[in-house]
Amino acid sequence: MKPNIGLSEKNLKSITGVLSSVLSDAVVLYTKTRKFHWNVSGNSFMELHKLFEKQYKILEEAIDEIAERINKLGTKTPGTMQEFLQMTSLKESPGNYPSQEEMIDELLKDHEAVIIQLRKYIKDCDEKYGDIGTSDFLTDLIKEHETIAWTLRRYLQ
Ligand SMILES: [Fe+2]
Repeated sequence: MKPNIGLSEKNLKSITGVLSSVLSDAVVLYTKTRKFHWNVSGNSFMELHKLFEKQYKILEEAIDEIAERINKLGTKTPGTMQEFLQMTSLKESPGNYPSQEEMIDELLKDHEAVIIQLRKYIKDCDEKYGDIGTSDFLTDLIKEHETIAWTLRRYLQ
């Protein structure tokens, strides 16, 4: 049954499309952060091992919230790696194990790319699709990414 919440079917489709891309980016970033948690080595091993764990746990919670919001808007939530990899704008590097500094740099760049994308989505959801709820939801999400990006950036300055 479609939700009757003052959003047209066309707009609901666009919004859940936006949220599915956001979900896919979060899943890829979560997986990458876990990979780095498992494989980091060097003089900051334990600190970064713990930092990455903290960050993937934040992403894990975000993933669940994004996924459930798609469902709240009346659409099935994508849940296969195949779909996530099709919809994400982030890149994975199979078989590549960067240095601790390169890991931080790569995660930072991904978070910054997500932030830039979210900024557009927040505007679109409000102004183009009239969905203040999703716009507000993504505004909370962008702040989480900004905090993680800030933490990562501090290691590189
Ligand atoms: Fe672990």
